[in-house]
Amino acid sequence: MKNFTSVHDVQDIKALVEKALAYKANPLQDKSLGANKRIGLLFLNPSMRTRLSTQIAAQNLGMEPIVFNVGNEGWKLEFEEEAIMSGTTSEHVKDAAPVFGKYFDILAIRTFPSLNNKEEDYSELYINQIIKYAGIPVISLESATVHPLQSLTDVITMTEYLQNNPLPGKKKPKVVLTWAPHVKPLPQCVANSFAEWVNAWGEADFVITHPEDYELDEKFTKGATITHDQDEALKDADFVYVKNWSTYTDYGKIYCNDPSWMMNNKKLALTNNARVMHCLPVRRNVELSDEILDGENSLVTQEAGNRVWAAQAVLSEILSNQSK
Ligand code: CP
Repeated sequence: MKNFTSVHDVQDIKALVEKALAYKANPLQDKSLGANKRIGLLFLNPSMRTRLSTQIAAQNLGMEPIVFNVGNEGWKLEFEEEAIMSGTTSEHVKDAAPVFGKYFDILAIRTFPSLNNKEEDYSELYINQIIKYAGIPVISLESATVHPLQSLTDVITMTEYLQNNPLPGKKKPKVVLTWAPHVKPLPQCVANSFAEWVNAWGEADFVITHPEDYELDEKFTKGATITHDQDEALKDADFVYVKNWSTYTDYGKIYCNDPSWMMNNKKLALTNNARVMHCLPVRRNVELSDEILDGENSLVTQEAGNRVWAAQAVLSEILSNQSK
């Protein structure tokens, strides 16, 4: 693996998941793999889980992680080619990224979409410019359209749960991605990425449910069953993944924000005693009810814990490739 920016960088998802679970069982098994190497973790936006879990993963492999909050501590970066920089940006990515390439062996970066300019966001301008100019392997810590470390974690978490709790009489679990209300327009990243990974994983009967007008880009959802009937979707579900996203077609808007789409115990009763997942942070009693988050069906803490093993498996793949 050279870079990790989407599921398309992964040759064998199941092998990567098993690698992550092996690190969970024995975190320090490769404690010298990254010795004398440094990873830069660049954040243009806030983060808790991604920032901490990736640092721990790097340290488990003997690497030195350095966090740089570019968004509020660095010079404001310009990403457009041939920009006339007479506005608010101070440094072009063409100048900054090669410097990161001198300081670090691997670069990881979190960007976010504008939610104003669909073409620019979906072209992944920021992370592609970093890859183009850094000259070292790049890991996405969430980009404008996808969050691959989160989605790898989600597949790890479902695999782990199923290994410990096989489903009698079912070849594949029913996995439902459901839209949930929120107070502000959020990116489509987590939903896009979850859809793309579950489809590529191929181990689930996959259903996506959302109100009308919240269709995601078909590039990510193709292969899933899509319905606007949440109750129908939830029937017999084994995993329910709850997430808000803003509209894709009329980009970045909130249309319907119907509170009845919030996942609660009444809806859980429609499922096959489903485990409930969310990437966090979550708006309690808007997206998901207290009763679910504090109940025994919630996997959210285990899921967030598994972020370490996802990051460690990815770093391990890149480090192994570097030493070839
Ligand atoms: N799920 C996730 O990426 O969390 P953070 O934004 O806190 O990193």
